[in-house]
Amino acid sequence: MQILNDIPERKYIEAETFLAFLGIYEDKKRERGYKKGLKRLKDYIKGKTCIEAGAGFGIFSEYLVKLGAKKVYAIESNRLAFNVLKENVAKYEQIIPIRSRIENFKPREEISLLIHDFFGNLLYDESLFALENLKFKPRRVFPNIAKLRYAVVNANKYYDDCITKNVIKQLSGMLISDLFLELKDSWQGTALEWQYPEGLKKYQIKLPYENLEDLLLVFGLQIYDDDLKIAEAGKDSNWSLVWTPVNANIFNLDFKIDKNHGYVKVKIEWTN
Ligand SMILES: C[S@@+](CC[C@H](N)C(=O)[O-])C[C@H]1O[C@@H](n2cnc3c(N)ncnc32)[C@H](O)[C@@H]1O
Repeated sequence: MQILNDIPERKYIEAETFLAFLGIYEDKKRERGYKKGLKRLKDYIKGKTCIEAGAGFGIFSEYLVKLGAKKVYAIESNRLAFNVLKENVAKYEQIIPIRSRIENFKPREEISLLIHDFFGNLLYDESLFALENLKFKPRRVFPNIAKLRYAVVNANKYYDDCITKNVIKQLSGMLISDLFLELKDSWQGTALEWQYPEGLKKYQIKLPYENLEDLLLVFGLQIYDDDLKIAEAGKDSNWSLVWTPVNANIFNLDFKIDKNHGYVKVKIEWTN
């Protein structure tokens, strides 16, 4: 979805973010994965105070109430999403919708569980950094683990009528989501790992190739809560596989956080 007319910049930014998030509600597999993971915590959730950080439309806040949560703070920063959230959860006295960035929210009581979906296609390129800047310490975060898996593949297996060798040549240095929808190879390793409360860990990977022609590097996110897989790029429609031509044998993904505007700039650097 795209806004086609000329509107004031501030309005455009909040509407664009709002529209970008609508797609998650079409991903029923993601919803089932989250609910399965939360159901596993049912005994823990019962009678507790929880937070949904970045609550969107509040579907998981509602689910926490169904699982017996005493109180749920549904925190959402986007004005348009918040308007929808407020209406959606109005019938639950246990859910308190609050329009705020989660980093600015300070609850008075202990928070037993914070749930979120702050994962970007490249793991750390959306809002995970917000969880490192909280004014409180939740006893448990769900989901609490994510991995950015990688594979190097031979592009000859993937080229089609549209995405040809010539097209790929033009994309050097760019990380492209959804260039191809499906991975026909296996993951070869993990480039990044995030865990709460430890944070982000980068692995130094040296690829072993002498001839780099026709090689593509592909990344895919996997989300876990402890040992349970919650969602996976390429299988859940909300997260895309991300592709880039291999330029050298060592790559580094760099994330620059703009805390004021709440977004993350990603760079990929190649060295030999
Ligand atoms: C991917 S959606 C997830 C919505 C909902 N939690 C779900 O899983 O259905 C992320 C939401 O978090 C909100 N958000 C992003 N960063 C935030 C922050 N720092 N504080 C509060 N809300 C935030 C966005 O506006 C968006 O509505």
